[in-house]
Parts: sequence; C-alpha cells; structure tokens
Amino acid sequence: MPEFYASAPNGLSEALEAELLDLDLKVLRRNSSGVTFEAPWSGCYKANLHSRIASRILKPVLDFTAYQPEELYGQILKHDFTKYISEKGTIAVDAGVQDCMMRDQRYVAMKVKDAIVDQFRDKTGERPNVDSANPDLRIVIRGNRNVFQVALDTSGDSLFQRGYRKAAGEAPLKENLAAGLLRLTGWKKDQPVIDLMTGAGTFVIEAALMALNVAPGVLRKGFAFQKWLNFDSQAWEALVNEAVEQEKPDLPFKFHGYELDKVTLQKAKDNARRAGVDHVIEWHREHIAAVEAPVEAGMAIVNPPYGARIGEEDNLRDVYRDLGFTLKHKFPKWSCWVLSGNKNLIQDLHLKANQRHFVYNGPIECRFLRYDMVKL
Ligand SMILES: C[S@@+](CC[C@H](N)C(=O)[O-])C[C@H]1O[C@@H](n2cnc3c(N)ncnc32)[C@H](O)[C@@H]1O
Repeated sequence: MPEFYASAPNGLSEALEAELLDLDLKVLRRNSSGVTFEAPWSGCYKANLHSRIASRILKPVLDFTAYQPEELYGQILKHDFTKYISEKGTIAVDAGVQDCMMRDQRYVAMKVKDAIVDQFRDKTGERPNVDSANPDLRIVIRGNRNVFQVALDTSGDSLFQRGYRKAAGEAPLKENLAAGLLRLTGWKKDQPVIDLMTGAGTFVIEAALMALNVAPGVLRKGFAFQKWLNFDSQAWEALVNEAVEQEKPDLPFKFHGYELDKVTLQKAKDNARRAGVDHVIEWHREHIAAVEAPVEAGMAIVNPPYGARIGEEDNLRDVYRDLGFTLKHKFPKWSCWVLSGNKNLIQDLHLKANQRHFVYNGPIECRFLRYDMVKL
C-alpha cells in the first residue's frame, strides 16, 4: 500500500493527524512538520480534496544517504520517474539541504534534474523541459546530514490556496492556518463564529465552509496528480461528486465579521462571495471598542495587529485594551480566542487565559489563547 506525507503548518501537525483520522485515512506516524499515512491513491486524492489543514500531500519515493554528486545522481536513477509524466511534460526540482557535504541546494537540484532528464532520454530519446512555476511534476528533495528524502508533490499549488482569496488586507492568515486554529478551538460547527478584526475574512470564511460541509478542494482549479499518467479520473470524480452531495445549502445561524477599514472589509466580502458563503456571513464596519455581541452566545476569534514594525507597538496598546474591554463587557457568555504574535501587547488585554497554544504565522511565533467570558 502506498505511503503519503501530509505537511502541516508549524504547530498544527496534531490537529492535522486528527483531521486525517476523521477522513478514515490510516495514519502511520506524525512528526512536528506533518503526518505519514497509508492509503491507495484514492486516499491521496481524498486528502487533497478534504484536508483543510495540510499544506501539501507528498508521495515519498526515495530515501538514501549520499555524500557526493555522483552518488546522488545514481540514487535518483533508482526510481522510475517516467511512469508519472510523458517526455513532453515539464518538471521542477525543489531542493533544501542542512548539514550536508553537498552544501549548495541549487547544485543538488541541478543534479537531481540531470538524473531525471537523462532517465527520460535513455528511455524515450526525448527529455522533459523544466518549468519552475507550473510544472507537471514537482520533485521535492530534502537533505539532512547527508540523508536525503525524495518525494513527489501531488498537490501542485499549496493547499492553502483554495482559490477564493484574491484580495487580502494587512497580514492575512493562510487559509489552512485559520482552519487549523478553528479545529484547535474544538468548535462543533453548530454555533456562530464571529471575527472581531476580520481583515480578509479568513476565519469566518473557513468556518462557514466547514459548517456548510464544503470540501476546500472543490474550490480549486486543480491538483498536480490530475496531470499524471497514473491519474484515476473515475475515482477522483466519484470523490468530488460525493463531496458535493454532502454540502449544505444554508444554516440556521449567521457568522459575523467586523472590521474597521472599509477597503479591507470590501475585500473580505468579495472573498466570501467567491467562496460561495456570503449568504451565511454578515459584515460590519466597526471599531473594536464599539462591537456588540450579535447573539447571546457563540465563539469569538480575533487576530489583532501585532505591531511588528518599530514604533507600532505603542500605538496598538489602546487597540488591545479596547479588545479586552469589549470581550469582557460585551461577550459575557462567549468563548473567545485571540491569536497574537506580540506577548507584550497580550498583557494589555487584562484578561486571564484558560488555554494556550503556540503556533507560527509565517516566521512569527504566536500565542493562540482562549478566554472564557462565562460569568460564574
Ligand atoms: C492582523 S489583521 C487580521 C487578518 C485576518 N485574520 C486575515 O486573515 O485577513 C488585523 C485587522 O484588524 C483591523 N483593525 C485594526 N485596528 C482595528 C480596530 N481598532 N478596530 C477594528 N479593526 C481593527 C485591521 O484593519 C486589520 O484588518
């Protein structure tokens, strides 16, 4: 049975494992950056179509030790790459090395590309071209202390690129990070989620997709595996049809997104329309100090600005104070989650967290904190 590797945003591999188990995939092991599962190829399609948290689904093909370029070249030839695409197709190699004798990752990438191209030429007399931006087959090689792992990228564009977000405001979250954070909250999809500083609308749009049972992959233009010779279009179409049948047309409650900036709010609205979830979201142009709870109880989530640039932190103290005040006084029965990459500013909320997780938003280490406002 083939093995696949689903890569996760930093801090979310446990959440990804839980998601893959929910999809009835057989998980073999997990590390800090992802999850290995065993499945027929249809399981790989399923993970690409349904996973909201994975960044990519890779198909590992080789694992070896190499110190010299000739060894690397020889090891690459041990796998038959001609079974995935024809010689008319295109390839790209994505290489990364750490503590290896071959220190230059561009050189490693070139050597791998040479071996694959020569393999095609020996077999067919022709060679595939390189297309770094949009290849039919992307080969990923990672070397650590001279141990190399080679995998094929079955996804193509990273899975956070669902296709609905054409416009974003300041510091948008990746869609799969937002979805993973929603999963960490334990939200059950049966109550409203509101985002108090919604930016591009990522949290509420992802929550709405979850509640409406819309598989994130249904929104995408396509996946790399669809371009391969072993692509089973019948199995894929059956999965897509089944996913579409499970979609819900509407919900008995609404999501709400609040945002101060008019232009950013319009971007969130446009994104929601493209995602097909605008009918379940209400948008409000509001300062955080003026937000009122739209219903009695639910889950509030908010990703305030972090003030990464010098001088910004002081300007944001009032914003965090206002946020803390609003949560405390206007959301007495809500469970509230705050994602922030600035631990000094978090103090300005003047609230005591009941739960905390550490995650990365790009390179920034963030705290994801739960505050239960339930009055005892
Ligand atoms: C870090 S961004 C949120 C990004 C969002 N999670 C996304 O994925 O696009 C913070 C947002 O808070 C908004 N904002 C800043 N100050 C605010 C205030 N006082 N009241 C309401 N929104 C505010 C900004 O316009 C910005 O869109």
